[in-house]
Amino acid sequence: MMEKKNIDWENLDFNYIKTDKRYVSTYKNGKWDDGALIEDDMITMSECACVLQYAQTIFEGLKAYTTQDGKIVVFRPDLNAERLANSSKRMEMPVFPEERFIDAVVQTVKANAAYVPPYGTGATLYLRPYMFGINPVIGVKPADEFQFRIFATPVGPYFKGGAKPLTIKISDFDRAAPNGTGFIKAGLNYAMSLHAIVTAHNEGFAENMYLDPKTRTKVEETGGANFLFVTKDNKIVTPKSNSILPSITRRSLMTVAKDYLGYEVEEREVYLDELGNFAECGLCGTAAVISPVGKINDHGKEICFPSGMEEMGPVTKKLYDTLTGMQMGKLDAPEGWIKVIE
Ligand code: PLP
Ligand code: COI
Repeated sequence: MMEKKNIDWENLDFNYIKTDKRYVSTYKNGKWDDGALIEDDMITMSECACVLQYAQTIFEGLKAYTTQDGKIVVFRPDLNAERLANSSKRMEMPVFPEERFIDAVVQTVKANAAYVPPYGTGATLYLRPYMFGINPVIGVKPADEFQFRIFATPVGPYFKGGAKPLTIKISDFDRAAPNGTGFIKAGLNYAMSLHAIVTAHNEGFAENMYLDPKTRTKVEETGGANFLFVTKDNKIVTPKSNSILPSITRRSLMTVAKDYLGYEVEEREVYLDELGNFAECGLCGTAAVISPVGKINDHGKEICFPSGMEEMGPVTKKLYDTLTGMQMGKLDAPEGWIKVIE
């Protein structure tokens, strides 16, 4: 067993910490090279690189966990590989093959095993695969040289205060366009959200609830997570939209809720004017895990969920315990969900 780094695991928040090795593969002359782990965390590129001028960049996020019995595992990396491929196609970028993506994840975790937080600390190793156009481009067109990279960084909770319910606001800004890129993980979607998140934070809110950009009557997602709602009769509802990111956490939770916990689940359009009918609300994603929402501020009018501002609602808690139990090796997960790093 590799000796762990001397890090205060319990008090980590969601910030970048440089680790020892990162994975790089370059695409040039129509093909990917063999790829390698390197030590240099700096990237040198042309001042006119497509990523700098026209934001041709996409990314993924997944985590490595230490299980109860001391193994290191990652959660459903095949779905990140698939989503990156979908992002690539929409952004006119080459696909990095799925088996190579998974192999690169394994190599990156192994090379940084000393940074995988120990079991029970509440921290995890966050992996950030990303790809960008690197050659100079001045007319508006895609690059033809790309880098695919993965770095690793140990993280704690995305929201300060851990499992305390959040207060969020309904944003007047949109994060996606009706026929735009909301359904892929393109850097441009996050650039679009920066002013909105700073505005929300300045007003004292943890996050934004974005509405559908076409009619502004339906719930979409936050800047970095999908929504789950629980009805008063314990049905689990999640918004359906073609401009939100298909969260792997949300899809996994819907399966867990239905097949393991016996809840009725529904993916459908969720209207703003029905929010007051729900009993619980949560944000789900790799970084957010499931973060409970206690209150939504709609231009000064407060929508307060019966679960309150002190703790997670009971159904949210059950989902949280089951999913994290699977990720930490305390509960059996569906076939193929957990990849052990040997
Ligand atoms: N929605 C957005 C906009 C995100 O950035 C993320 C994070 O990846 C998610 C949802 C959650 O997706 P996942 O559960 O696959 O991490
Ligand atoms: C993730 O959950 O992995 C994300 O990419 C969300 C990001 C906003 C931190």
